[in-house]
Amino acid sequence: MDNLPKTWDDWIENFKAWQDNVGYKREWMGDFDLSIQFDWERAGDVIEFGDYQGRPKWERSLQVPHQSMRDALVSMITVQGDTEFASVEQQRHLLATAPTDYDRYAAARIMAEEQRHGWQMAYLLMTYFGQQGRREAQKLLERNAQDGDRLLGAFNRPMPHWLDFFCYTMFVDRDGKFQLGMLSTSAFKPLAASMGPMLKEESFHLGTGSNGLRRIIKAGVIPLDMLQRYINKWVSTAHDLFGVDESSSAHWAYVWGIKGRWDERKKLEADVEVSKENLNEEARQHYHEEIVAEVEKLCGYLPEGAVPLYVPHENFNREIGAFKRQRYTVEGTPFEGSDDEWNAYVATHLPTAQDEEDLKTLFEQQWVAEKPLTARQIASGIGASA
Ligand SMILES: [Fe+2]
Ligand SMILES: [Fe+2]
Repeated sequence: MDNLPKTWDDWIENFKAWQDNVGYKREWMGDFDLSIQFDWERAGDVIEFGDYQGRPKWERSLQVPHQSMRDALVSMITVQGDTEFASVEQQRHLLATAPTDYDRYAAARIMAEEQRHGWQMAYLLMTYFGQQGRREAQKLLERNAQDGDRLLGAFNRPMPHWLDFFCYTMFVDRDGKFQLGMLSTSAFKPLAASMGPMLKEESFHLGTGSNGLRRIIKAGVIPLDMLQRYINKWVSTAHDLFGVDESSSAHWAYVWGIKGRWDERKKLEADVEVSKENLNEEARQHYHEEIVAEVEKLCGYLPEGAVPLYVPHENFNREIGAFKRQRYTVEGTPFEGSDDEWNAYVATHLPTAQDEEDLKTLFEQQWVAEKPLTARQIASGIGASA
């Protein structure tokens, strides 16, 4: 790595080269403020959980008690940053085929915000973690979703079209919300303080997803059974993102105080006992409950008599964890039947080549209901020239 950045400005130069590579033009950001943002107040001063509870939060990496903890922090920040840049690589090509002006704006803004999130993580690595951090900050710009070498599987999956995009923002960005939430109580203060502004931006991404799916239902062009298959695809991908069951790294991250539970502060207040062996399962469960409620809301927009949309069970179509590559139904029961029967089951519950083909013609119609841009969104210039 001969272009290892020494200063933050060096890194920004390399970032611009990454942007050029990905093909995200800087003017698409409009008036978007690509800057480092901290909410120090929300981060708190005192370590909230784990073995160091009650001591002051660490403001510099040298205050972190030992190297394995620093390594865990670097790896956590790296994984977070990796997903941010990866999602831009996955989504950038969609700008050319946005179904409405509003959607072009929304996608360009989401990509601008993901770039800011990636910046923020790179900044932490560059500022607090010496040579090790600089190396990781540079690698954030060198792995690529198109080459399939981003760190998490979901972020290497191609996103060929806008139906994927709406499901992705609804379900995969929502996983992001949970990850950021769990880091928001970190004992490493600059990390915790990064989360408030990121979470605020993330809520727009989730909103774009749920709003998009609602507008798809409203337009009534995409067959609902097909929509369900895409939901199934991205929900199972998002379930994987919570990581392996009985994770020892999640266990240690909690003991060390660097990554908490979802709603850690509320749980501490209510004296909810922690099960350190099952932290990933616990977070996934919270996530699952939230998307069940979200999909129920969507069902409120279905036409009379339509089969309700649902969220597949955590056991369905998993690539990670105890149910990895096993045959489970969307209800979570073991699938009983022959290979042929299983293949037929999969073809009715996950997107098929035929779906992809059919979508090409469906996309020629008004398949997402219009949504007007607000005056402020127009004035922002975000995505206007994309
Ligand atoms: Fe993000
Ligand atoms: Fe996001």
